[in-house]
Amino acid sequence: MDKRQQVFIDGQWRDAADRATFDVLNPATGDVIGTAPMCGRPDTALAIDAAHKAFLTWREAGSEARAQIIYRMYECLMDHQVALGALLTEEMGKPLAEAKGEVAFGAKFFKWFAEETRRVYGDVIPSPWPDKRIVVTKHPVGVVGAITPWNFPNSMIARKLAAALAAGCTMVVKPASQTPYSALAYGDIAEEAGVPPGVVNILTGRASEIAAEMCENPKLRKISFTGSTEVGKRLAAQAGAHMKRVSMELGGNAPFIVFDDADLDAAVEGAMISKFRNAGQTCVCANRVLVQSGVYDQFAEKLGAAVRALKVGNGVEAGVTQGPLIDEAAVDKAREHITDATSLGAEVQVGGDSHELGGLYFQPTLLTNVPRNAKIFSEETFGPVAPLFRFETEEEAIAMANDTEYGLACYAYTADLGRAWRLMDKLEYGMVGVNEGLVSTEVAPFGGVKDSGLGNEGSKYGVDDYLDIKYSLIGGLKT
Ligand code: SIN
Repeated sequence: MDKRQQVFIDGQWRDAADRATFDVLNPATGDVIGTAPMCGRPDTALAIDAAHKAFLTWREAGSEARAQIIYRMYECLMDHQVALGALLTEEMGKPLAEAKGEVAFGAKFFKWFAEETRRVYGDVIPSPWPDKRIVVTKHPVGVVGAITPWNFPNSMIARKLAAALAAGCTMVVKPASQTPYSALAYGDIAEEAGVPPGVVNILTGRASEIAAEMCENPKLRKISFTGSTEVGKRLAAQAGAHMKRVSMELGGNAPFIVFDDADLDAAVEGAMISKFRNAGQTCVCANRVLVQSGVYDQFAEKLGAAVRALKVGNGVEAGVTQGPLIDEAAVDKAREHITDATSLGAEVQVGGDSHELGGLYFQPTLLTNVPRNAKIFSEETFGPVAPLFRFETEEEAIAMANDTEYGLACYAYTADLGRAWRLMDKLEYGMVGVNEGLVSTEVAPFGGVKDSGLGNEGSKYGVDDYLDIKYSLIGGLKT
């Protein structure tokens, strides 16, 4: 699969209107691996026009035709899994096995939503009047703008695009500038799958200009964003001024709670995947590991051994389990959280600084005895740093876990079923992993509460985010 260096609008590959470009880097080497068009408002308006024209026929295509094309996208993604995985590692840095896994995960959303296309049901509401009927039908919201992040360059688009296409919407996708190629590859996938021109449009470039056009252009009806809470709030306000619907999948500050009665080996395994997958650069990452006093030392020792076993390096090399971070700002943030915590008394058990490989490589890090006033308790690190906090009681753990403005994912390890249910009830989060460190799947709703966002992606609920409800009252019926 080629590394596309043009944007995909109305089924055509093209440059930005002013032919401007920007460089794309490989975070593992710092090398420039290509360029991508620096699009602005005129290009975005063109893409929205194309998506709007295509919407008028795509929404009428019928569920069977749409389902077949969406299913074909699943097949095409899987056919190109290896090449897409390599592209993803080159521009983003995650180990190849994780990258290929992400492509397969992204593909599953197309398979799932191909099936959901057939299940966009309405309702007939029992009428209070003998001569009238009440009918509820669901309709695609229209053209959707998707703004997606660099940490999952393939699957974050899949989550939005597959659901939107199933609903009958068309889309303009703006990926993060660090990772344009996995996104632009969707142009090839769409062509190969037989998606009509204009239904899927992908453009790279100036985020603020593209977002402004999306928010203000009356032909675009909804914005779906995955990224930071700070940007999400700004975007939601901008979209709200034009009464656009929004879905927001924003930051997290996930607690990972380990109780005295937990299976500690399972908890270590869960903590490793939750904290160190993608070098800690996921919004559902365990950000605070809360451990009950009775098992604190034992858990810290076991987790330390697992953290030490991680292999840092270029994601294309065999056996590497942690690639580079995405940029200098990510490295600075990890270092800042460690420095702040240690200045307040935390101890570094493993790692603690940049990796000897240099560049954007960072040591997988374990901190113990971290005090609650450390920044890492309240801010998302988005890096490979696991801070351990101590608690005594269940009530205290719940209070600590909920002491944040975020509410995306949380995790708890316990053998007590009653406690597990209490936690599911009381933890103020959109997703709860009980004895599980990874909750993402296409069949379940992914989304947060509080400052972590609005709406759900994946599952039977995911398609609702792209549908409007219409109520029709049919009167004048003879009784
Ligand atoms: C994220 O959005 O950062 C997490 C993605 C996932 O776990 O599916």
